Parts: sequence; C-alpha cells; structure tokens
Amino acid sequence: MTKVRTVNQTAIDEAAALLKAGAVVAFPTETVYGLGANGLDRDAVLGIFAAKGRPADNPLIQHVADPTGLDALVHTVPPAARALAEAFWPGPLTLVLPARDLVPLEARGGLPTVGVRCPAHPWARRLIAACGFPIAAPSANRSGRPSPTTAQAVLEDMDGRIPLILDGGPCAVGLESTVVGFPDGMPVVLRPGGVTPAQIEAVAGAVRVDDAVLHQLAEGAVAASPGMKYRHYAPQARVTVVDGPMEGKTRRICALYDAALTAGGNPAILAASANAGRYGSRAVYSMGQDDADQAAALFETLRRLDTDGRTDAFAEALEPSGLGLAVMNRLLRAAGFRILHGEDAP
Ligand code: TXA
Ligand code: MG
Repeated sequence: MTKVRTVNQTAIDEAAALLKAGAVVAFPTETVYGLGANGLDRDAVLGIFAAKGRPADNPLIQHVADPTGLDALVHTVPPAARALAEAFWPGPLTLVLPARDLVPLEARGGLPTVGVRCPAHPWARRLIAACGFPIAAPSANRSGRPSPTTAQAVLEDMDGRIPLILDGGPCAVGLESTVVGFPDGMPVVLRPGGVTPAQIEAVAGAVRVDDAVLHQLAEGAVAASPGMKYRHYAPQARVTVVDGPMEGKTRRICALYDAALTAGGNPAILAASANAGRYGSRAVYSMGQDDADQAAALFETLRRLDTDGRTDAFAEALEPSGLGLAVMNRLLRAAGFRILHGEDAP
C-alpha cells in the first residue's frame, strides 16, 4: 500500500527516514512531482528505475537543497553555468555538467555528465536538507505517461510500487525543468521548461536550442539528452497538433474532430480558453489563457483524456516562444510529432 501524506514537518521526517533506509518516495517540486531516492546510493537509485519502468540509459536529475550543493557533484562549472545557477536557482533549471565519481553511473545512465537542480519548492528543499544527501529524481510517472502535477496523479501511476507520496498540492509550473548542457561552454537547451531561452540568453549572453526540442530525431541519431529519444507524455488517445493561422486551424480541427466522431471515435479538442467558443458544441478541454496557464494545465489535461476515454485529441499549436516552446515540445511528443497545418485542404 502506498500512503499519501499532506506535506508538513512530520511527513518530511517520515520521508527522510525512508530515503535514508534506501526507499523510493514521491515528493512535490514547483515543476512536477519527483520520484526520489538517495542519489549517491546505487541500489536506492536502481529502485527508482524499477518503480518507474525506466530504461537504464535514461539519466536522473540530482536535486540539491542549496545552490552551493552543485560543486560537490560536478568537477567543472563553466562561467555561463555559474551565472545561470546564480540567476535561476532555486528554480526550474537543470544544469548538465561533468560528474564527479561519487555520482553512481547507474544514476547518470552511464554518461560522464550529471544533471543537477536546486528546486524552488520549500518542502522539496527541506526534504533534501533533512536527508543530508542529494535526491535523484525523475518525474514520478510510469515511463511513457504524462508527468504528474498532483499527488493523485502520482498515486494513479505508483500505487503499490512505493511506500509514500508527499502531497504538496498542484505544482505551480506544471512542466518539467529546463535542461541545459554546456558541450562547448555555451548553454544549449536540451529540454525547454520554466526558464525560457530568452531568460538564459539575458544572463549567459547566448543560447542554442537543440534541434530535438521541436523535431523528431533522425533514425539512428544520438540524442544530446537520452530522454529525447523516448515517446513521452503520451495518453491513450491519438494526439494530433494543428498549426497555422487561427481561421484555417479552427476549420481543420473541426473537420478532423467531425471525421473522428463519424468513424465512431470519442474525440476532444485542446484549445486556449479564448478560442473555446470557436468549436461550437464539440468537446473542448480549455487549457487556459496564456502560455503559463497552458503549461500548468497540460499534463492534467492529457491525463483527463484517458479518464474520459477519448480516442483522439486535436490540439491547437502554440507559438514556440517563451513558455510556449516548452508546451509545444511536450505536445509534439505526446503526438509522436504528428502535426498538421490549418491551411491544408481537409
Ligand atoms: O522538473 C524536473 O526536471 C523533474 C523534477 C522532479 O525535478 N524531473 C524530471 O526528470 O523531469 P526526468 O528524469 O523525468 O527528466 C530528466 C531529463 C531526461 O530527459 C534526461 O534524459 C535528461 O533530463 N537528463 C538528465 N541527466 C542528463 C545528462 N547527464 N545529460 C543529458 N540529459 C540528461
Ligand atoms: Mg520524465
């Protein structure tokens, strides 16, 4: 049985005791819920891979209680990385840097580098501090499922697999952290998230966004970040993203929805709340007003598609800038990169 405890000091003490004994515990961060274990203990780390059903070559992020925890885990910090840590930690940013030997190879999927993040969530930081070691944690979903942004969503995926879930309510950001690597000293966004490329550029002077963020990796290509090669965030429904100017996009989505319905399906539309009225009596899941709302709502919306038994979902594309880049990255992965254009003939 998996216990769910509202996060408070007593629950933190209980979680820390479990983590010190080598167990796996789910905890809230400001991005998504994490599935944590002692990041320096290889057996504890293997417990995460087992609970999640995660491929062994997909590395975990190490979470530190305080920004100063970075240097204990990595042996080289380029000035751009240092500046980003100073500007955005604690926060939704993960820095990928050359690992020290104490970080088990199992935790980094065999790579020479390690991803490190100091989360902003006060209870997450208290938990790490109470443990006295970094907590390795991927998102607390079963592999291939949307990341959980509520304790209930964690329970759906992890019931019976871990002893404890700390419930800190819904996650404020709702998408995972921005993952940044420094292959030549300059920042490269491997996964977009709460910290945008523009914010990174303002601090580090330059930034590149890896091709795999918005494009499918070519057959046989090596991913800069192993997570990029896996189908992700996928509900049971077949998701299609539709882009283009508003009018054509709306018309195309309506045509696709109607065709799915005629074929005996149970379709839904994912739309910005301002556009919800454009789809008449069709089933619309309103994703909120701006890209921050849409980021916060996306994973719960993808999970709702399953709960409601939807067979198809047609999603409006977002402008891939600011937080919209992170939302589009997740949507495209949920869609297996199936994208249609509004101006195409239906
Ligand atoms: O917000 C988040 O980042 C959440 C919370 C719990 O911190 N964690 C999270 O972890 O999303 P996970 O494991 O679901 O995703 C981590 C991503 C994966 O795509 C992984 O491939 C990449 O970061 N990553 C981790 N370490 C890496 C490394 N050394 N080199 C390249 N990519 C790395
Ligand atoms: Mg994940």
